[in-house]
Amino acid sequence: MGETAKISVAGKDVENAVMSGTVGPDVIDIRKLYAQTGMFTYDPGFTSTASCDSAITYIDGDEGVLLHRGYPIGQLAEKSSFMEVCYLLLNGELPSKDELGTFSHTISRHTMLHEQLANFYSGFRRDAHPMAIMCGVVGALSAFYADSADVTDPYQRMIASHRLIAKMPTIAAMAYKYSIGQPFMHPKNDLSYTGNFLRMTFGVPAEEYVVDPVIEKAMDRIFILHADHEQNASTSTVRLAGSSGANPFACIAAGIACLWGPAHGGANEAALNMLHEIGTPDKIPEYIARAKDKNDPFRLMGFGHRVYKNYDPRATVMQQTVREVFKAMNVSDPVFDTALKLEEIALSDPYFIEKKLFPNVDFYSGIILSAIGFPTTMFTALFALARTVGWVAQWNEMISDPQQKIGRPRQLYTGATERDYVPVEKR
Ligand code: CMC
Repeated sequence: MGETAKISVAGKDVENAVMSGTVGPDVIDIRKLYAQTGMFTYDPGFTSTASCDSAITYIDGDEGVLLHRGYPIGQLAEKSSFMEVCYLLLNGELPSKDELGTFSHTISRHTMLHEQLANFYSGFRRDAHPMAIMCGVVGALSAFYADSADVTDPYQRMIASHRLIAKMPTIAAMAYKYSIGQPFMHPKNDLSYTGNFLRMTFGVPAEEYVVDPVIEKAMDRIFILHADHEQNASTSTVRLAGSSGANPFACIAAGIACLWGPAHGGANEAALNMLHEIGTPDKIPEYIARAKDKNDPFRLMGFGHRVYKNYDPRATVMQQTVREVFKAMNVSDPVFDTALKLEEIALSDPYFIEKKLFPNVDFYSGIILSAIGFPTTMFTALFALARTVGWVAQWNEMISDPQQKIGRPRQLYTGATERDYVPVEKR
C-alpha cells in the first residue's frame, strides 16, 4: 500500500489513501470517509478539494505556470493557432498537418445556425447584454440539434462538441449585430475560424470585408489564452450540469451563465470600466486605497486569482499583445498607460504583495478588445466563445470516465431542527 493519511475522529483512526497525479499536489482520497466516520468534510468554495481526475490542463499557481496537455501557454500563444489548440484540448495530442486540415474543415462545416434560431434574437431587447443572449440561444440549440444530444454515444458527443465550437462565433457575432441593428452576416468558410468571426462581427453585406492579418492573429491569440483553465467555476458548472446526463448544449449554457459573473469572466468588462473610471494615473492612489479598505466592497478588477499567487502567465502574453496591436495599428490608448501605472503601483504595495495579488488574464484583454472595436459588453461573450472548447473537452472527459457519478455535494446544516407546523391564525 502507498502513502496514507490518518484521520483521527471520535477516538477512531481511519486510513485514507494518498493519490498522486503526474505533477502537482497529492490528494487524500476521502470517498469512504462518511461511511467510516459518519462525517463529511467542509470546504465551501472548494479551496482544498480536487473534484475530479483530469489530464487536460495543469496550473502551478505559485510558479505562474499553465500547461495544456503539457504544452506551456506561452509557447501555444506564440506558435500555435486556436484551431490547433482546440484539437489539442479535445484529443490530447497536437494534430498532424492533415489532421489539423480535416479538423478545421469539419469545424467550418458546422458554423451555420438553423435559420429558425435567428428568430430568438428578435425576442430580445436591442440593448440586451450579449451574455443574456448567449445563455438563451446556446441553451436553445438543444431544441435544434437533438441528433447529437445522446451523451452516451461518443460519436454524438463529438458532433455536439464540433457544433458548439463552430457555432459559438456565429451566435456571438449575431448578438453584436443585433445590438447595433445591422443585418446578420452568414459565415464564410474559406476564412479562418477567427477571420470568419471578425467578418461576421465587423463586416456588412454591402461591402467586401478584408480580414486584417494583425487583428486576426491578435484575436486568435486571445482565443488561445482563454481556451481552458482546469476546474474554474464555469467549467465546474459544466461538469456538474453534465453529471446528471443533461445534454451538452444545456450544459454549456450553464457554463456561460456562471462565466458572466464579475468575479469570473465578467471581470474583463469590469476591469476596463474600472480603468476608464480611474481615468488618469493621478487618481490611482485613491482606487488603491479603496481596494485595501475592508469597509469598501471595491476590488481591483483584473487583479487576484484563486490559483495564481504569481503573475498570471496569460496576463504576460496579453500585455505583450496590447503593445504589438497598438504598434501595428499605429494607435495608442491612455487607458493602457493607466493600466501599466496601476500595475506598477499595486505590485509595490505591501497589501498586494502580502496577499499575492497580481494582474490576471482580464486586466489587459479589454484594452486590446476595445482597440479592435468591440464594445465592453461583448468582452465576456468573447471569453465564452473561446472557453467553449475547454468546457466541451472537460465535459467529454467526465462523461467518458467509467467511474463518473452525478455530482452531489453535502452540507453542514445550520437551520431549524424539526418543529410542528403552526396554522396561520395562530402565528
Ligand atoms: N482587489 C483587492 N483585494 C483583493 C482582490 C482584488 N482584486 N482580490 C482578492 N483580494 C483580497 C481579498 O479582499 C482577501 O483579503 P482578506 O484575506 O484580507 O479577506 C484576499 O485578497 C483573498 O481574496 P479572496 O476573495 O478570499 O480570494 P478568492 O480566491 O476567493 O478570489 C478572485 C479570487 C479572482 C475572485 C478575487 O481575487 C477577485 O475578486 N478578483 C477581482 C475579480 C477578477 O479579476 N476576476 C477574474 C479572475 S481571472 C479570470 C477568470 O477566472 O475568469
